[in-house]
Amino acid sequence: MDPPPIHTIICLVCWSFWLFPFCASSGSRLLPDKPLSAGSTITSDDGTFALGFFSPSSSGTKHYYVGIWYKNIPKDNVVWVANRAMPIADPSSATLAFTNGSNLALSDTNGQLLWMTNISAAGNSSSEATGGGATLDNNGNFILRSSQGIILWQSFDYPTDTLLPGMNLRITHKTHALQRLVSWRNTQDPSPGNFSYGAHPDEFLRRFSWNGSTPYWRSPAWNNYLLVGRYVESVKSTIHFTLNTIDDEVYISFGLPEPSVSLVLLKMDYSGKMKLRTWNSNMSKWTDLRSEPKQECNKFGYCGPFGYCDNTQPIVTCKCIDGFEPNNKQDWTAHRFSQGCHRMEALRCGQQDGFLNLPSMKVPHESLHVKNISLDECIAECTSNCSCTAYAFANTSTKDINGDETRCLLWNGDLIDTEKLIGQGQNLYIRVHGLSDKKRKSTVLKITLPIVSTLLIIIWVCLVWICYLGGKQRNKNIWKKLMSGTSSTSFELCDGNLKYPSISFKEIVLATNNFSNSNKLGHGGFGSVYKGMLEDGTEIAVKRLSKGSGQGVPEFRNEVILIAKLQHKNLVRLLGFCIHGDEKLLIYEYLPNRSLDAMLFDATRKSMLNWPTRFEIIKGVARGLLYLHQDSRLKIIHRDLKASNILLDAEISPKISDFGIARIFGGDQQQENTNRVVGTYGYMSPEYALNGVFSVKSDVYSFGVLLLEIVSGSKTSSVHLKADFPSIIASAWSLWKDGNIKDFVDSSIVESCSPDETIRCIHIGLLCVQDSPNVRPLVSSIMSFLENGDISLPPPKESVYFSENNNGNDGAAENTVNSANNMSITVVEGR
Ligand SMILES: *[C@@H]1O[C@H](CO)[C@@H](O)[C@H](O)[C@H]1NC(C)=O
Ligand SMILES: *[C@@H]1O[C@H](CO)[C@@H](O)[C@H](O)[C@H]1NC(C)=O
Ligand SMILES: *[C@@H]1O[C@H](CO)[C@@H](O)[C@H](O)[C@H]1NC(C)=O
Ligand SMILES: *[C@@H]1O[C@H](CO)[C@@H](O)[C@H](O)[C@H]1NC(C)=O
Ligand SMILES: *[C@@H]1O[C@H](CO)[C@@H](O)[C@H](O)[C@H]1NC(C)=O
Ligand SMILES: *[C@@H]1O[C@H](CO)[C@@H](O)[C@H](O)[C@H]1NC(C)=O
Ligand SMILES: *[C@@H]1O[C@H](CO)[C@@H](O)[C@H](O)[C@H]1NC(C)=O
Ligand SMILES: *[C@@H]1O[C@H](CO)[C@@H](O)[C@H](O)[C@H]1NC(C)=O
Ligand SMILES: *[C@@H]1O[C@H](CO)[C@@H](O)[C@H](O)[C@H]1NC(C)=O
Repeated sequence: MDPPPIHTIICLVCWSFWLFPFCASSGSRLLPDKPLSAGSTITSDDGTFALGFFSPSSSGTKHYYVGIWYKNIPKDNVVWVANRAMPIADPSSATLAFTNGSNLALSDTNGQLLWMTNISAAGNSSSEATGGGATLDNNGNFILRSSQGIILWQSFDYPTDTLLPGMNLRITHKTHALQRLVSWRNTQDPSPGNFSYGAHPDEFLRRFSWNGSTPYWRSPAWNNYLLVGRYVESVKSTIHFTLNTIDDEVYISFGLPEPSVSLVLLKMDYSGKMKLRTWNSNMSKWTDLRSEPKQECNKFGYCGPFGYCDNTQPIVTCKCIDGFEPNNKQDWTAHRFSQGCHRMEALRCGQQDGFLNLPSMKVPHESLHVKNISLDECIAECTSNCSCTAYAFANTSTKDINGDETRCLLWNGDLIDTEKLIGQGQNLYIRVHGLSDKKRKSTVLKITLPIVSTLLIIIWVCLVWICYLGGKQRNKNIWKKLMSGTSSTSFELCDGNLKYPSISFKEIVLATNNFSNSNKLGHGGFGSVYKGMLEDGTEIAVKRLSKGSGQGVPEFRNEVILIAKLQHKNLVRLLGFCIHGDEKLLIYEYLPNRSLDAMLFDATRKSMLNWPTRFEIIKGVARGLLYLHQDSRLKIIHRDLKASNILLDAEISPKISDFGIARIFGGDQQQENTNRVVGTYGYMSPEYALNGVFSVKSDVYSFGVLLLEIVSGSKTSSVHLKADFPSIIASAWSLWKDGNIKDFVDSSIVESCSPDETIRCIHIGLLCVQDSPNVRPLVSSIMSFLENGDISLPPPKESVYFSENNNGNDGAAENTVNSANNMSITVVEGR
């Protein structure tokens, strides 16, 4: 949908907020001789923000306010309000004007002062102070300047309920007061509400939201990234919270998001939720990247002392720490958790205590921070003090202002507001009694363990034997049943990795807008790929295998098993999978730059890929392939390496995807035959296309074609078995033979490229596409050819097979089809 024209939006804003028949704008400056009155606005130079009079109420008695809002966003757009608690009843003669040139004041019809900047109160009584007028900057900051250009006052220093990028929130209070975002009372009333957000007065590295003066939610403690004077917390990988030290006070702000996120803000919502939101202009709505607390269980102290909120289970609820039990069992079973838990065995202080490790925890509230000590010293510190109930240690990897890179946290007494997180958090060590008990247990174990384990081994061996006899066949059947969903129509089996262990079909349907066409990223041989956004804002790509395609079934199983085991920065990450009835879904990380072919073969986007970037892509793909072929514990042949299966992340670094037809090889197995040739013509090696024989060298062949494509920027043109098979190889060869290989290089990279590197890459490409698999290099050699320009390369042998075909020998091509007749050849289209 095209955005509506600007004037339409302005008038919409006028309609929804002022309901005035006219709408005037007076540039980005407010000057001493020109007061602002209702009906006119000041607009930032780039048109993003507007300042003026508005009314948030849609019905009943209208109250008016002076504020700043996003001009092009039709709803929830106010980011700052001047007279929060002093509304204007009758806006007709209210003005925002300079008083005697020194201050900016808002007064109503009766001349009553509703709001003013109080600059002299800030310590400067220079009377011609505001001679510079006031401007609304493009970042939403309204600034009063003296005639010398000195900033006398700015709205960013007086946050209301919203933190904008570039805005600082003071979280220490050495010489100034702490700052907090304070919610509106409700959507129609900007006066200060019950909820606020900011740092705890004594613990500035943890942010809280409060309901009145009661903590309502607490952010996890910072873990690493303590930079000199700066602290960075990553949210969604690209939005960073930063700590800045200005004049001895620490401020928190958040940095620029990824370019595709045009607009973000942090808002203390009237509902009590701290929201990190972004405006989605396509859907014309706000999307919450974070909304805290997510659930009841995540509220501050909800699980009581020594209880913790377990976020890793499908039903997020409170639990007692191991070794503890509920204080009031009836309450606990009735889901009233506030009384918390107590130790099952009291601490006796001394040798008999040990520490229990709880991984992935949001550590409890109110810790003691001991600076500059090592892990051992941290443990000793806690062990030696009987009132120390827990410790947590982090090596922040970056030194703080004092050169300290450690963070030892200790707790006394009750542990409050602890949570078990998914894939984040840190180890928390809790003091428990019972080392002596454990000793006793361990002597018992010494006797029973060997017996039990011997028994277990015997049972295991038997099982393996039975499985071996009963065979793969039965396993396959179980999988088949599982996959076809015939066992039950309501059958659902969904699973994820550490981060999303409990992903459900319903969540995926929600995330992808019920697989709506607008979310569709592409379509391939096995089905469609959709973009989705999980509730926490994580973007995902969902591959939905076509329901009818029987061939997708083993591939599905294969891909899930395979990718779950693979972890490499040049392989796309599988986040989970889901089988629901006859739906089969794979959930991947979403990569904003989509696939290589969409960029490489697009006349305009191609320019984003200069030679150094392309060279990095080539090396990245090679590294990913090397991992598949030899560095992972399994040996994996991808079988369908091609430009559309190379996805690009935000940094344009490549990730190999689509392992649907990959094969795992046994340790010393060299090649395999298949009666089902799957892959994509043009990338398929002759021995695979014709005889169904594949090995790591068939992947090398595909890599060679890919390499030639990347250097030349043109597609291997063949979609058909007949006619000009990989013409790219033929054209590279003819130029190579004629000594004109420079002409093969993509004209759009000629300027950015190093001729040596490009020619070397073409040379490597030609080595990879040689007819005989035996003479093609292994990926490990390719890697060293790429990394080390001094290694001399063997001369390539011409790939005769396809060039002969290319010379118009139709008969040979027909024969090829015939000889391949008894295989089912499937051409898998890219995504
Ligand atoms: C403005 O000036 C008048 C006289 O010059 C003075 O009485 C008044 O207090 C001043 N107002 C402010 C807000 O400074
Ligand atoms: C500005 O001065 C007025 C009147 O003295 C006072 O009520 C108000 O709290 C002051 N505002 C600020 C932001 O200091
Ligand atoms: C007061 O104004 C003078 C000159 O206009 C400037 O140099 C000084 O920094 C200001 N002081 C404060 C506290 O703003
Ligand atoms: C704010 O607190 C008051 C009591 O202090 C309560 O009556 C009111 O419901 C609260 N408002 C919200 C939105 O929670
Ligand atoms: C906030 O606290 C008030 C009492 O002070 C309570 O009535 C209200 O329900 C609380 N709001 C939420 C969202 O918990
Ligand atoms: C919005 O739509 C445009 C084209 O319709 C597309 O290029 C862009 O990626 C979309 N942005 C988002 C955030 O979905
Ligand atoms: C912290 O980690 C860094 C790098 O891993 C290491 O060099 C350093 O010695 C560690 N510091 C402490 C105090 O353990
Ligand atoms: C250690 O014990 C002292 C009292 O002797 C107490 O004040 C202090 O907070 C304790 N520290 C820790 C980390 O347990
Ligand atoms: C931290 O401890 C080391 C060794 O214990 C010492 O050399 C260093 O000066 C300490 N740094 C600070 C900032 O106290």
